[in-house]
Amino acid sequence: MKKLFEELVSNANIEFNNTNDLVSLEQIKSKFLGKEGSVTKLLKNISKIKKEDRKQFGIYANSCKSQIENLLKNRRNHISNVYLNDKLNKEYIDVTLPGRGFLGGSIHPIMITWARIEKIFHSIGFDVADGPEIEDDWNNFTALNNPIDHPARSMQDTFYLDMNDNYGKKLLLRTHTSPMQVRYAKSHKPPIKVISPGRTYRVDNDSTHSPMFHQVEGLWISEDISFANLKFIYINFLRCFFEQENLDVRFRPSFFPFTEPSVEMDMMFKTGPNKGKWLEISGAGQVHPNVIRNFGLDPEKYMGFAFGSGLERLTMLRYGISDLRNFYEGDLRFLSQIK
Ligand code: DAH
Repeated sequence: MKKLFEELVSNANIEFNNTNDLVSLEQIKSKFLGKEGSVTKLLKNISKIKKEDRKQFGIYANSCKSQIENLLKNRRNHISNVYLNDKLNKEYIDVTLPGRGFLGGSIHPIMITWARIEKIFHSIGFDVADGPEIEDDWNNFTALNNPIDHPARSMQDTFYLDMNDNYGKKLLLRTHTSPMQVRYAKSHKPPIKVISPGRTYRVDNDSTHSPMFHQVEGLWISEDISFANLKFIYINFLRCFFEQENLDVRFRPSFFPFTEPSVEMDMMFKTGPNKGKWLEISGAGQVHPNVIRNFGLDPEKYMGFAFGSGLERLTMLRYGISDLRNFYEGDLRFLSQIK
């Protein structure tokens, strides 16, 4: 009798060990412990056993059942472990590898400058105005006291469109933000206090010029605004922009048709390969009476100043950059250094 049970246990052991998957293991289990399984069947026969042997039979049967259950549990654990280890090996991830994440974007250096300028001038009461990049001859040149055929026009060669304005003049890509003086002054009442940053175009390309570039125009017209105010406002703007008290800035006499007197402002590089060199950053001056008249205002009553500064130039000085074309080559090694 004992042998019979021992055989059952050893058969179950052999069969369990022959399978490597959990589904067939459960099928084998039912061969022994299921309703029709051999252990169950044996137990059903207990009534046929002699009375005096029944107790022993019961002990053997129960121990056989629990041994088989133990074997089953062990095999189940074994198969699960093998499966898990296999999966871990196959799906191994080297957590020390650098990630393949996307690079975070950043704001273009010129746009950082643009935003800083707006913030500074806005904080001292200047309106911020936006204007068209396609201009007509009147706003870009004539109204700014720059008549047709005047030699000063050749300083600003630009791109013309195959489209005329209402006066038969070719439309053009604005050569400066100064036309915004005219547009803004004609549609607002004095005191006029505005800046207008934006894109401008010229047929130029070297280390300090690109065919598309950015300027910010400033205009303050009232009854008593003079060149002295320009100096004060502009120098303090530069101090805020560069976050430095002591800047090397100089005003040089110059000529622009729309201002009288006119100046050019230069600033010295404090860092970078151009350290110690001057760079022109702005034109400026007292607005010419003819231009005030073209604003629709009386030059006997109104006066003021204007300036037009290069955003690329200011950015070059701030970060010590020697070639403006870097801004437009899309090289992330360059762009990502400026935050
Ligand atoms: N528009 C001029 C240029 O692009 C710069 C300039 C000079 C602007 C004098 C002004 C000004 O407003 O008053 O070269």
